Amino acid sequence: MSPEQIRLNLLSWYDAHARDLPWRTGPAAGQDGLRSDPYRVWLSEVMLQQTTVPHAAPYFLKFTARWPTVSDLAAAPDHEVMAAWAGLGYYARARNLLACARAVADQHGGVFPDTEAALRALPGLGPYTAAAVAAIAFDEATNVVDGNVERVMARLFAVETPLPAAKPELKSLAAALVRGERPGDWAQALMDLGATVCRPKSPLCDRCPLTSACAGLATGAPETYPRKTAKAARPHRHGVAYILTRGDEVALVRRPPKGLLGGMLALPTSDWRDARWSEAEARTAAPVSADWRGAGEVEHVFTHFSLTLRLLRAEGEADGVIWSARRDLDALPSVFLKAARAGLSNLL
Ligand code: ADE
Repeated sequence: MSPEQIRLNLLSWYDAHARDLPWRTGPAAGQDGLRSDPYRVWLSEVMLQQTTVPHAAPYFLKFTARWPTVSDLAAAPDHEVMAAWAGLGYYARARNLLACARAVADQHGGVFPDTEAALRALPGLGPYTAAAVAAIAFDEATNVVDGNVERVMARLFAVETPLPAAKPELKSLAAALVRGERPGDWAQALMDLGATVCRPKSPLCDRCPLTSACAGLATGAPETYPRKTAKAARPHRHGVAYILTRGDEVALVRRPPKGLLGGMLALPTSDWRDARWSEAEARTAAPVSADWRGAGEVEHVFTHFSLTLRLLRAEGEADGVIWSARRDLDALPSVFLKAARAGLSNLL
């Protein structure tokens, strides 16, 4: 199949099967001269870099209802944006999001620059996002490559090089299919195909518009692409989370601005280390003296390590903490929300 035929098949498939997503103006909107709002495109792309469409969609709706323009977001206090981001993970992205919004508001009069190169110059806006916003909001013929697109290319061309070494090769295979016509739809068609048909585990090849071009399918095992180098095992760490209550309130702290979960609200914790914490050690390391009782354990998986948090709970007083009503704990990152819920559950 020629590149032109591949494009034709996939764009026709997209016209019929594009997902109806809250940030889209609709399939083939670009053909009618209708452009998506760059703020909405940018926000959705940043959110979608770390999570799936169904998980991101409610966050997108919440953000755009509360901050309808980039200037509204730029004017929001950091802690409100961080709290609204809680649950999406990768909190450095939320800080980059704010830095970028403020640069657009302060240096560009609240109007996003309209080329990939100018977008790339904004703080906290990486190569993927610049390419995606330029294609989807401004119809620039950029090469938008995320994990979905890498997988589609690896299968379509049966690329034997394993990831991550294959990345440049996959990118140039994708680039060879980009044209000036409907670049935003093209990028999103590839992503939708990757997410709904050319799925990581069980691809639905009988629904794919590219089967007759697919070298991966011809091998008989398309799901084995992209090839991967064996991953090092994820290290495991141990910590203690302290749930100090004062009636209906829970003591929270703000984590230091740099590092994991930087700037986020958190439960007070011990160090996170390789060895388990005994209950006696956990009591000794407590931030304040109180009648600490064991309240179970929770497990959490981060990108680079997994964590067991032993939970201790007590009723008491402390200085320098942020007392927060139990119903407001949703502003906590998932690991601490999980810990607080588990530790408090026998009190509820
Ligand atoms: N994943 C990341 N961005 C996307 C988009 N614009 N459409 C569909 N899936 C996506």
